[in-house]
Amino acid sequence: MGSCWSSRIKAESPLHRGASSSSSRKDGNNSGDFSSRVSSMPQTPRTEGEILQSSNIKSFTFNELKTATRNFRPDSVLGEGGFGCVFKGWIDEQTYTPAKPGTGLVIAVKRLNTEGFQGHKEWLAEINYLGQLYHPNLVKLIGYCLEDEHRLLVYEFMPRGSLENHLFRRSSYYQPVPWKIRLKVALGSAKGLAFLHSDKAKVIYRDFKTSNILLDSNYDAKLSDFGLAKDGPAAGKSHVSTRVMGTYGYAAPEYMATGHLTEKSDVYSFGVVLLEMLCGRRVLDKNRPSGEHNLIEWAKPFLSSKRKIFHVMDTRIQGQYSLNGALKAASIAIKCLSPEPKSRPHMNDVVRALEQLKESEELVVAIESQQKMGRDLSADPKYRRRSANDIYNGKSSASYPRPSYAPAVRT
Ligand SMILES: Nc1ncnc2c1ncn2[C@@H]1O[C@H](COP(=O)(O)OP(=O)(O)OP(=O)(O)O)[C@@H](O)[C@H]1O
Ligand SMILES: [Mg+2]
Repeated sequence: MGSCWSSRIKAESPLHRGASSSSSRKDGNNSGDFSSRVSSMPQTPRTEGEILQSSNIKSFTFNELKTATRNFRPDSVLGEGGFGCVFKGWIDEQTYTPAKPGTGLVIAVKRLNTEGFQGHKEWLAEINYLGQLYHPNLVKLIGYCLEDEHRLLVYEFMPRGSLENHLFRRSSYYQPVPWKIRLKVALGSAKGLAFLHSDKAKVIYRDFKTSNILLDSNYDAKLSDFGLAKDGPAAGKSHVSTRVMGTYGYAAPEYMATGHLTEKSDVYSFGVVLLEMLCGRRVLDKNRPSGEHNLIEWAKPFLSSKRKIFHVMDTRIQGQYSLNGALKAASIAIKCLSPEPKSRPHMNDVVRALEQLKESEELVVAIESQQKMGRDLSADPKYRRRSANDIYNGKSSASYPRPSYAPAVRT
């Protein structure tokens, strides 16, 4: 593990100066099937005191977190981002006091690099948003620590870490993510974004990317990192930022060019991540042959072709998806990546499209595996209404009953 204080390059370009600078610091609906709570996000800026007082989370002392993480032991580092390291720790489930390793509640403690208080604003933004927004697809913020120069955040531990690691890390620990799981993760993270954009929350997330999608033991996806989030603008309006922040490759082109920020900027970023999941490639990768550095430019010409799409799909999931399923997923990504923000779908539409896709892909797999076992499913009333061909031909599967043994979609 490195020093733990290294930084990611984030996009942060001063606008209207023709500069394309980067900085080494990061400055800076619900689809209706599960409960979500939000104590109405205030649309006016609040003071630090107000934010800390109104959040429903615990204030930890630095010593408590030091003990919970065994003195921030290097071997308990879960990962490292632009602000610093994230450590694994343990607290008592009831009292939230430090617990013996391996007992009680597992937590992830993000310790901000305190040099120059660079991350203070983002630390506070995280508490402002995650201290009030609750949804199954947002990571739970348990508490924070503000003591002298120390700024820490305490989250629920996400056992499977980030989607980034699963998609792009090559090691025996990280097996290729199966197609079924990719769809599940895409759907879960789409639901998280849809909730943020809903009237209940009205938040623009601004940093949707694979490293901010965390996975629990069931591969349920949860969004983390609200340091760059912003209250959504009034209807029909967009924010104009003086500084563009986000991550290269994920930020929408109009936002990068003009600073105009709307929820459609998040939809673009979602399209980028979906494409990364389909292709198993990073959006920007200088290690690829020339012409393949930019995933969107490289993949786009292949995405709507029945004959060519296999060329760009991740070879590690070959045989797990139907042609129609791949085309459908690619068409969702293409729509999200429309250069014109108005042509991009709302996240609610994306959620619905992914739900249908996931259901029809599960059905195709179920029918195929039954056929392999020699059962003629056409005789089974459960399957009689529609054939596998209907599914392959992209007919809606909305009314089709799910095979009884197919995993229930947990939302
Ligand atoms: N709640 C958590 N549970 C388990 N692992 C976590 C948790 N939060 C973060 N991590 C791990 O720590 C890593 C670093 O997270 P962090 O949010 O600090 O940075 P990042 O998202 O990788 O980069 P950036 O600073 O650009 O946002 C994550 O990629 C993930 O592997
Ligand atoms: Mg992050």
